[in-house]
Amino acid sequence: MSALINPSILSADFVNLERDLGRIAAADFVHVDVMDNHFVPNLTLGPPVVRRIAEVSPVPLDVHLMIEDADRWAPTYAEAGAASVTFHAEAAQAPVRLARELRGAGVRVGVALRPASPVEPLLDLLAEIDMILVMTVEPGFGGQSFIEGTLPKIRRARRAVAEAGADTWIQVDGGVSRSTIGRIAEAGANVFVAGSAVYGAPDVAAEIVALRELADQ
Ligand code: DX5
Ligand code: ZN
Repeated sequence: MSALINPSILSADFVNLERDLGRIAAADFVHVDVMDNHFVPNLTLGPPVVRRIAEVSPVPLDVHLMIEDADRWAPTYAEAGAASVTFHAEAAQAPVRLARELRGAGVRVGVALRPASPVEPLLDLLAEIDMILVMTVEPGFGGQSFIEGTLPKIRRARRAVAEAGADTWIQVDGGVSRSTIGRIAEAGANVFVAGSAVYGAPDVAAEIVALRELADQ
């Protein structure tokens, strides 16, 4: 399967979201960062805006919840029209119950890990989830530099998924660019979130194609 490229609208123009969504028709999903100013020190958008994004986006929504009390709020984003809902392992009380509820609502389920959180506790739960999101920066802001020390975690995740014969996707988020995507793909990721690299490029559509090609090499 070809690498999936999910541009993050955190780096788009929030006053011109429909225009900026229209620029990423070549992408696989649009990555929507939801922040509550508690789990991370930043605040973005909530269910009403996600609902409108779902109505106008040319590609399905990959919603990344950086919020406390994921158990309570994550299902709302499935109802709002997301195709994939990712909550943080650190913010869920009952991740398996939540994952089953989300799958029941018809969405793909991702579980995200901060850079310092180990992947091992997730590896016995692969049957319950569709994606592991390895954060490769501290969540909260776009434009940060890639944390090289996360590469071994991506490798361990990929090895465990292969050994289990699972088809769990491994997503990376943070500092993905032309200069880092090759070694992240080599480590085993297959889904790449890129905010500043895509929306900061002179030609957004061409950047999506270039990133996918580099990841597929
Ligand atoms: C950060 C967000 C990311 C962010 C990535 O907490 O989860 O999705 O948009 O931005 P870049 O690609 O600029 O590092
Ligand atoms: Zn994100």
